[in-house]
Amino acid sequence: MGENSMQALVNQARRILKAERERYLQLHPHSIALSNRASEHFLYGVPMHWMNDWGTPVPLFIEKAQDAHFTCADGIDYTDFCLGDTGAMFGHSSPAVAKAVIEQANNGLTTMLPSALAANVGEALAAYFNLPFWQLATTATDANRFVLRWARAVTGRTKLLVFDGCYHGTVDDSMVDIVDDKTTNRASLLGQVHDLGLHTVAVPFNDLAAVERELKTEEYACLLTEPTLTNCGMVLPDAGFIEGLRALTTKFGSLLVLDETHTISTGCGGWAKNKGIVPDFLVVGKPIAGGLPAAAYGFSAEMATRMKTAKDSAPAGHSGIGTTLSGNMMTLAAIHATLTEIATEAAYVHMLALAALLEQQLTASIKARHLPWNITRLGARLELQFCKNSPSNAQMARDAQNNTIESAIHLYLLNRGVLLTPFHNMMLVCPFTSQDDINKLLKVFNDCLAELTSE
Ligand SMILES: Cc1ncc(COP(=O)(O)O)c(C=O)c1O
Repeated sequence: MGENSMQALVNQARRILKAERERYLQLHPHSIALSNRASEHFLYGVPMHWMNDWGTPVPLFIEKAQDAHFTCADGIDYTDFCLGDTGAMFGHSSPAVAKAVIEQANNGLTTMLPSALAANVGEALAAYFNLPFWQLATTATDANRFVLRWARAVTGRTKLLVFDGCYHGTVDDSMVDIVDDKTTNRASLLGQVHDLGLHTVAVPFNDLAAVERELKTEEYACLLTEPTLTNCGMVLPDAGFIEGLRALTTKFGSLLVLDETHTISTGCGGWAKNKGIVPDFLVVGKPIAGGLPAAAYGFSAEMATRMKTAKDSAPAGHSGIGTTLSGNMMTLAAIHATLTEIATEAAYVHMLALAALLEQQLTASIKARHLPWNITRLGARLELQFCKNSPSNAQMARDAQNNTIESAIHLYLLNRGVLLTPFHNMMLVCPFTSQDDINKLLKVFNDCLAELTSE
């Protein structure tokens, strides 16, 4: 697309944004009132400051969420393709999870001791993800932090290798960017006093030579990555890339940590299980307790032995790994219900089929408007990117971003009852998403493209 036509799209997106902001304010008097009230006691009027970063004029306050839908404080129904950015990937308040949570809530929430369900949950995790040993955490951020500590403890090495554009939660060590070929603290970080580049190096995704150059120094405790980058747009691995990482980490004595918090969208059991790759550690979070805060990390029997050796040979006292409420009774009940009753093979058959259909039809809409855009899909997860072909590293994904066009699309869809994931263009299909939901998204997306490309 030439610069003129890109500029024309941006100009049109600005016009759309202006009109849609007004429309949003008219549609949401209750959200506005709640925002005003909440602002008296919450910073930016929201429980977490980043909730204010969605592109709406005031935050959307939610009354109720069920299946693939939610209702806002103004009584408007939305089809949810954000699904809590994967936290609700198996649907909102799934009946099986709601039942398990209600039953458990009447029988204790937390004790700091393993509940009688612990053995069942261990068996469910092992069967589901194909790794024999597990530990729990409350968030995927924590699970990644803990794995990093274990990796350093068992290898006796300090350094961490990550990919440019990575996101593994607010794990300090991974909050880096490449600036002028140097690994540097992410510019947006608040209150970070450590030079993260001292122990972390970032290299471009899909660049095995760069990975080998670093790993062969034999200073790296581990390489931490998602099998597909999902937080800078979406970047799929080239054929053989993850296999290459597996071989190089083994060769140079580093551990391979796969963060499957988002790539669990690939298929039942996640990316690694479906592709037959066995990492040293596997991290899962967000949806594994149906939306309650929970995460887990799995590892091999050999790794379990190495971890025990590290722990047993350390002085007695706090390991620096763990939090009080992790693995509480409530969480165990919710994980068990999620893995055994809702994140099933049958659920994935439905999710993957609808997501494939959505990919086809979104691609057709884009082509019909002659837009040089593309849809990248990983199982139940789709990403609209403003480039002709799927990007192969984070820099290419960043180059394809356009905040104005993105904001216009998000707000246009939101004002017509369809929610996309903020900060990029992700759409997720859950077991409750219906053909009608897909049709609704396609209709409003088509209408939006018609306005964007109109003269
Ligand atoms: C790949 C990946 N890992 C970890 C996390 C952190 O999850 P949480 O915010 O629940 O700690 C995220 C969050 O988006 C993520 O995308």
